[in-house]
Amino acid sequence: MSKLNINGKLRDVEAEPDTPLLWVIREQVGLTGTKFGCGIAQCGACSVHINGEVQRSCSIRLSDVKATDKIVTIEGLSPKVSHPVQKAWLAIDVPQCGYCQSGQIMAAAALLKKTPKPTDRDIDEAMTNICRCGTYPRIRAAVHMAAGMAAGSGSVAPTQRKRA
Ligand code: FES
Ligand code: FES
Repeated sequence: MSKLNINGKLRDVEAEPDTPLLWVIREQVGLTGTKFGCGIAQCGACSVHINGEVQRSCSIRLSDVKATDKIVTIEGLSPKVSHPVQKAWLAIDVPQCGYCQSGQIMAAAALLKKTPKPTDRDIDEAMTNICRCGTYPRIRAAVHMAAGMAAGSGSVAPTQRKRA
């Protein structure tokens, strides 16, 4: 039995120590917003925050995480989808199939925490998550919008909805 702090709650989980954190989150805890893509730390679909850093949970073993580590999944990013990144994603209508998007949002939120006003280059360097639908231009636009909102200068007015 291990204890994990996920989205502010301490959870008891039972799995082999080498079980990927992704599967513990999805199958033991039942939080299925975090997705499986490649399983080899390449695509970013499984991104979560651990102690404020974005991490690829498919490549972290259960035994690598302590009960004191703070894990945040897409379900715990904000109450009521109120994080600026989530608001910007909705305003710009970023997702296509949606599969990669929880990982993209987690990566964007981590980027903005470290770099509140990222340049295009900052975004391209930090956001290496793969989107098979090619939503990259909308992702970039939404990160800029979220940065503006966080600084109090942005807006999520419906008129700003657009397809890139
Ligand atoms: S599933 Fe973890 S990086 Fe692709
Ligand atoms: S929206 Fe389909 S993979 Fe990114």
